[in-house]
Amino acid sequence: MKMSKNAPCWCGSKKKYKHCHEEWDNTVNVLRLQGQIVPEHHLIKSPDDIKWIKKAAVINNGILDELEHMIHPGMTTLEIDQFVYDYTTSHGGIPADLGYEGYPKSVCTSVNNEICHGIPSDKVVLKEGDIVNVDCTTIFHRHYADASRMYCVGKVDPEAQRLVDVTKECLEVGKAAVRPWGHVGDIGAAIQEHAHKNGYTVVREFCGHGVGNGFHEDPYVMHYGIAGTGMVLAPGMVFTIEPMINQGKASLFVDEKNGWTAYTSDGKLSAQWENTLLVTEHGIEVLAW
Ligand code: MF3
Ligand code: CO
Ligand code: CO
Repeated sequence: MKMSKNAPCWCGSKKKYKHCHEEWDNTVNVLRLQGQIVPEHHLIKSPDDIKWIKKAAVINNGILDELEHMIHPGMTTLEIDQFVYDYTTSHGGIPADLGYEGYPKSVCTSVNNEICHGIPSDKVVLKEGDIVNVDCTTIFHRHYADASRMYCVGKVDPEAQRLVDVTKECLEVGKAAVRPWGHVGDIGAAIQEHAHKNGYTVVREFCGHGVGNGFHEDPYVMHYGIAGTGMVLAPGMVFTIEPMINQGKASLFVDEKNGWTAYTSDGKLSAQWENTLLVTEHGIEVLAW
């Protein structure tokens, strides 16, 4: 269906179509005719969506910032969870993890050989030398912001530190690979190259994802793959990049008892960093970090 040039744009901006997404649609239509996978309109965030995602991100970023000062040897991961719940709700947000597909806590805390979805517990006491990922998602006014960081508990050994640092670099090279009208495969190709160059492996079972109006939306953002393949990245898309990088083998197993926590199959360390970002006309805007 063709939109009339003077009608309000489909994106919800309240601008006239001809001053808003007409050119965007023309570009996407050409790419579609060339056989490319292009995003549908529902993956494009409205200015209002972006406003609310940013408010969710302010809370989420605040939590991850506070934890920089809080995490110390002797602290339990349950204390992290309680802080996340209290901070989120006292700022008017909802912890997205709580009750998500039956998940029992407000945040994921993955220690050392845990790849992701570590469940906070009073039995897990952080000790000097541990590396822990805290993965936090906040809902505000029905909109989502998702990010995770690594925290070093006290002094960690140089090999653990190198994994943490290289994994952060993997996130950064992934972000640097995002171009408006580029492809989602550009991201994975860049991350994979950087991980392998440093002697590490990329977890394949979990990936980044569209986010904002829901928790997990299209597209899936693989952290490996081939540049120039997959969905076209168009201005207005919001998604996460969240590489999980292993010291040893890429393979994993999931905890049989809790059904959630993924561990490295060889018991070696794993690290992860996650940002939520918006594709703009010129590049990206990082919304949650
Ligand atoms: N925040 C995770 C992600 O990056 C998802 C956690 S879902 C939970 O996609 F249920 F485990 F909390
Ligand atoms: Co996350
Ligand atoms: Co995520």
